Amino acid sequence: MNICVIGTGYVGLVTGVVFSDLGNEVVCVDSDKAKIAKLKRGIPTIYEPGLKEMLQSNIEDQRLSFTTNLGEGVNKSEIIFICVGTPQKNNGETNLSFVESAAREIAGNLREYKIIVNKSTVPVGTGDLVREIIEKNKKYQVDFDVVSNPEFLREGSAIKDCLTPDRIVIGVPNKKVANRFLELYSPLERPMLITDVNSAEIIKYASNSFLATKISFINAIADLCETAGANITDVAKGMGYDSRIGREFLNAGLGYGGSCFPKDVHSLVHTAQKFGIKFSLLENVIQINDQRVDSFVGRIEKRFKKLKDKTIGILGLAFKPDTDDLREAKSIEVIKKLLAKGARVKAYDPVAMESARKILPKVEFCKSSYDAAKGAHALIIITEWREFKLLNLERIKNEMACPVIFDGRNMYDPERKRRLGFEYYSIGRK
Ligand code: UGA
Repeated sequence: MNICVIGTGYVGLVTGVVFSDLGNEVVCVDSDKAKIAKLKRGIPTIYEPGLKEMLQSNIEDQRLSFTTNLGEGVNKSEIIFICVGTPQKNNGETNLSFVESAAREIAGNLREYKIIVNKSTVPVGTGDLVREIIEKNKKYQVDFDVVSNPEFLREGSAIKDCLTPDRIVIGVPNKKVANRFLELYSPLERPMLITDVNSAEIIKYASNSFLATKISFINAIADLCETAGANITDVAKGMGYDSRIGREFLNAGLGYGGSCFPKDVHSLVHTAQKFGIKFSLLENVIQINDQRVDSFVGRIEKRFKKLKDKTIGILGLAFKPDTDDLREAKSIEVIKKLLAKGARVKAYDPVAMESARKILPKVEFCKSSYDAAKGAHALIIITEWREFKLLNLERIKNEMACPVIFDGRNMYDPERKRRLGFEYYSIGRK
């Protein structure tokens, strides 16, 4: 099939690359000239395992191309995916201005029947909005359909998630369009749900908000474990064996970050409000998440009485492992609080340091975990990169001014750390 993808952010780029790898002809469109120039040369603009190889091989096979000319992409394609950013406004609402302008531009270039798909995360009703904008702005009397096909990929495993999704949700206005989508996705051989557009839009927000709820729930239980003298790792394991609950997304820690959960939970609260519904459950989910960093930094401060002139080593900056993304990363919150309290901060992350330099100019960036530990009064683990599990902790201890570890992701076994001579604090464990 001939496909156009508008927007080459995380979702757009990965979607375009994977569709081309499945044998479709794909044109990716973005207004950012520098980005398109890089992508044309086969250089990925994000860090994602497996992306580079797939990008380059499909460009070489001429199934994948990049352009800044939206009209060209629309004209060549039968299906047009809108994958532009949907950031958050100050009031929690989703900012749809990029989706709206993409719809207007598509309308201006519509010369024959096309299927226009919202893949960006958009609130219920956006399908109707896109339809109205295109109706109003189209120059020729041509027919078109609007579909909702939300994306569920995770950063860090985006290619894998795209190739083997748990489910494919397709919100369609009629059977004819449903059949085109069943055909498009059939090579993946994954479960597909055909539904209406509004339901598909809600499925995406409900899924992300449910996962965020799981995280805040386990974090609240972790607080209880800490005070009552229990172990959150065992509690989560004990709960997770129940197949109705499941073990995933029950890792207690500093809370959820990234470009999706914080924004999407706020947006769902706002959407509910628009329909006259107060979503108190999600308001509490947000509140619990917002308190995580404060209470974590509070514990560090309590241990040292004063943080002024203390050297703190940070391991991990990305909002989660296997990505260089710093959006809503807990590292930024923690570091800003430590700096405000007068601490000196040294940090190391396997891939996110380049972007971090721009956001955190007062931090000393280190070449390795051992460098970050050098002279530190405490080492703080913020992102659970696998390489931190494999550290030589004897060497880490020898580098430090004071062998104290605050583990914000429960990476290590507390007993072992203590045997090695560390003062070890983690989340929800004695
Ligand atoms: C999330 C969803 O998992 C994807 O399905 C969805 O497509 C995506 O949002 C999106 O809407 O675009 P992502 O933000 O890439 O994906 O990252 P997750 O792996 O879901 O992690 C989100 C945050 O939750 C991270 O900060 C992570 O550290 C935190 N988390 C996750 C926990 O604190 N505990 C857990 O047990 C799991």
